[in-house]
Amino acid sequence: MSGHGAPVPMTSRKCTALKGVANVPGDKSISHRSLILGALSVGETRISGLLEGEDVIDTAKAMRAFGAEVEDLGGGEWRVHGVGVGGFAEPSQVIDCGNSGTGVRLIMGTMATSPITATFTGDASLCSRPMGRVTDPLALFGARAYGRTGGRLPMTIVGAKDPVPVTYTVPVPSAQVKSAVLLAGLNAPGKTLVIEKEATRDHTERMLAGFGAEITVEEAAEGRVITLTGQPELKPQDIVVPRDPSSAAFPVCAAIITEGSDVLVPNIGLNPTRAGLFTTLREMGADLSYENLREEGGEPVADLRARYSPDLKGIAVPPERAASMIDEYPVLSVVASFAEGKTEMRGVKELRVKESDRIDAMAKGLRAAGVTVDEGEDWWVVEGRGFGNVPGGVMVESRLDHRIAMSFLVMGMATEKPMTVDDASPIATSFPIFESLMASLGSAITRGNR
Ligand code: S3P
Repeated sequence: MSGHGAPVPMTSRKCTALKGVANVPGDKSISHRSLILGALSVGETRISGLLEGEDVIDTAKAMRAFGAEVEDLGGGEWRVHGVGVGGFAEPSQVIDCGNSGTGVRLIMGTMATSPITATFTGDASLCSRPMGRVTDPLALFGARAYGRTGGRLPMTIVGAKDPVPVTYTVPVPSAQVKSAVLLAGLNAPGKTLVIEKEATRDHTERMLAGFGAEITVEEAAEGRVITLTGQPELKPQDIVVPRDPSSAAFPVCAAIITEGSDVLVPNIGLNPTRAGLFTTLREMGADLSYENLREEGGEPVADLRARYSPDLKGIAVPPERAASMIDEYPVLSVVASFAEGKTEMRGVKELRVKESDRIDAMAKGLRAAGVTVDEGEDWWVVEGRGFGNVPGGVMVESRLDHRIAMSFLVMGMATEKPMTVDDASPIATSFPIFESLMASLGSAITRGNR
């Protein structure tokens, strides 16, 4: 789990010509769901390409604590022997989800409709994040939650003995909340309905269908209406986890801002609920192309080719695109710093409750590096300074947030003076090979603060 060892400062300095192939790790969202749905199936699920980052490993441990057999076969191959829907055993230990909001929220949902009790905790970042958004709908199923003030971890969930199905409109655009309700609905008799006004990543819906659940999605006046029939027998699957577009964002953006670069990032899922960053970068004038566009496992997939893009223009990012790129705003704000003109990012209140308050973390670091940033509760605007004009030369805080750490290390590749991140250890939660992969492309990232 991150944030428990000594901090690992890292410094990134100006480099030229990132070149080569960036094989980024497996998708984090799909990796968590593969382990959880595997644990809820009857029989053996095989997973290849699992992200072996700390967040996902914590979910694997949790699935073992609830009674599933989870085995690492090596080389990204995993085997999960599930206990079936409603088959979770009561864990004898506290479930530590480390840094992972997705892990804890999905697992809380999964166990909330079984007659068992479990206590959840996490690192300082996770213990500061709101859980009421999940425990409120879980209470409708009959589960009870006892946590710290403000609905924070550590928290004990007492699962419902006789769960009832629910109809729930998700009040914030959140795939984690949607997924927690759907996973709880699995063990409630009858139909559970989840309505989301704005579409968020739809991996849970797609994967539940793949595991044999009866699930329908309908576009209605009130939004996306998802209907799940409870108490199915989930059938084990062979899953190939696609590579993570949110991790691909870092080598892609690094190539765009680093002079002379030409980087290929193969096999990236372009599910429209995830691909908003790439559309935005192209609108800003980035030289980013999709090669070998194809369909795999029902999802559009392409090899991304990103080249240095000296003529970037700031744009107003459409607020309705926010959910499809919610994890990518930090690194977008870095690219925006090197563009001509302002980049406006609106409708992004959710950024304030991620692993850190991402608007605050980025705004402070960007300002320290010489970039003007204006912000409000649900918006921020970055005034681009153009290439060769962003000073850098500062140490910034990563705040136990992997994406803040990686964003500032990408920034240092094009600032005039190096950028130092006070603690890069959280990168291991989602992108454990970041340092070696970036080095193989030609980055100049070193450990330490100089
Ligand atoms: C995720 C949903 C998003 C995202 C997170 C992964 C998921 O969180 O930020 O990194 O796998 O469901 P929210 O549901 O809070 O938007």
